[in-house]
Amino acid sequence: MRIDTPAGSILCDPWVNPAYFASWFPFPDNSQLDWATLGQVDYLYVSHLHRDHFDAAHLRDVISKDATVLLPEFPTSEMEDELRELGFTKFLKAPNEQVVELPGGLKIMIQALTSPTDGPIGDSSLWVEYDGVRLLNQNDARPTDLTVFAELGHVHAHMLQFSGAIWYPMVYELPQSAKTAFGKQKRDRQFDRTWRYIDDLKADNVFPIAGPPCFLDDELWQFNDIFGDEGNIFPDQSVFLSEYAKVGGTNGIVLLPGSVAEVTTEGTTTTHPVPVEEFFANKVAHLEEMRERKRPIIEAEKASWRHPEIDVLGEMKRRIEPLLDESIYLAKGVGGPVRFDLVGYDGVDVESIVVDFPGKEVRPYADEKVRYRFRTERALIEHLLHIGEVDWVNSLFLSCRFSAARIGQYNEFVYAFFKCLSEERLQYAEGWYDEHERAVDAEDITLDGWVVQRRCPHLKADLSRFGIVDGDQLTCQLHGWKFDLASGRCLTSVGHKIRAHRADEETPAPAGDALI
Ligand code: FES
Repeated sequence: MRIDTPAGSILCDPWVNPAYFASWFPFPDNSQLDWATLGQVDYLYVSHLHRDHFDAAHLRDVISKDATVLLPEFPTSEMEDELRELGFTKFLKAPNEQVVELPGGLKIMIQALTSPTDGPIGDSSLWVEYDGVRLLNQNDARPTDLTVFAELGHVHAHMLQFSGAIWYPMVYELPQSAKTAFGKQKRDRQFDRTWRYIDDLKADNVFPIAGPPCFLDDELWQFNDIFGDEGNIFPDQSVFLSEYAKVGGTNGIVLLPGSVAEVTTEGTTTTHPVPVEEFFANKVAHLEEMRERKRPIIEAEKASWRHPEIDVLGEMKRRIEPLLDESIYLAKGVGGPVRFDLVGYDGVDVESIVVDFPGKEVRPYADEKVRYRFRTERALIEHLLHIGEVDWVNSLFLSCRFSAARIGQYNEFVYAFFKCLSEERLQYAEGWYDEHERAVDAEDITLDGWVVQRRCPHLKADLSRFGIVDGDQLTCQLHGWKFDLASGRCLTSVGHKIRAHRADEETPAPAGDALI
């Protein structure tokens, strides 16, 4: 998205090239826009380092290096470092949640989210004001609420994510009926969260952005939402409009590549390169045409993954064991061995490697029971090791080019660890968990006959707003996590116990196992 004002233009998250092992492509296709012109901007804003937002090749090749980067206040310098490597030299480090006045009367504010589970350590939203017109590009950030933006005055345009951007539940080795049921739950939850954010801000117009991607490799084609599958987590913008209408929403505007929305305090007028309904009526043809056009790109990427000279077990040992040694919170949170089954080039041979968190070592699988297992092509791991990738979430997992099985609940610590395969990231994540798990979150609220801690044990959402109690079960609607109030047990993820008791009972003694 490019924001043009008389005081300057801001290009936001310009993503064109495929991401995550050539799995995700922008939908609709935006590669044929006039990027030479669009890239001549005053400011560049990249919300976070996920590769469907931070497109290194496109930033390097097409975007003006005269642009000043509006930089979120992230805990590590990775984004600035990567942008400098691409040739950017001008940076404006926006202090978190503070309005910054730029020349010509343009005002911006960036909210940086810094939990290890936000993006690849950090995600952000950009608020912009010019001449009384306000816009929030929330993108795919998930703040606990939007108060900090609402307090700055009525917002005219609210851009936010509504679709899925994850591998769950498709990659899980489950019966199709279970996958469909989980997918449907997830799809509903994504929309519920979107309605809540929209209701928080009450902007004049709402623009569904930041997804879904499309999948053009034949191996992943089934992930596109074109088969009438109610469990598909990637509904598109036209589905957003119809679902939004069901809850009374009438102010949604879909933007296609090349659409222009003129936003004023009086209202918004939009022009499109083709009628929006017509475009979505021809979605399958658009995807099929795009698939043929992009096939050579996918084939070329695939040809670059194999590195038979790499000793995968030896390299994983060398890189991961020092991090296991240092890890306290994440290793304890994972709590057991994680198995990787690596399928050889012939599609038959399988090498099984275990990352043993309690034993602090990487070793061959020893016919033991494991709670978490991933199965993927050996070539993908070879490629990650070859390029020294420190974030396997922002590469392997988001590619959806794997399958997974687990016994029991989702464990966020598994993914937090595999996105922190560098000293800097691991130390940050360990410090974050240390600080947050120790913080005494003493305030309680009463919800439907239960006294519960005010802040969600997941990412601190205010449960007086996001908590829904149904019998003995509490659901936090921000990410849909569920808790059994009688025992305090989190039903969605390992650890994350909630403090709760019935309002007509005495306060129980502190649980004492707050960590995991
Ligand atoms: S903050 Fe994520 S589920 Fe509550």
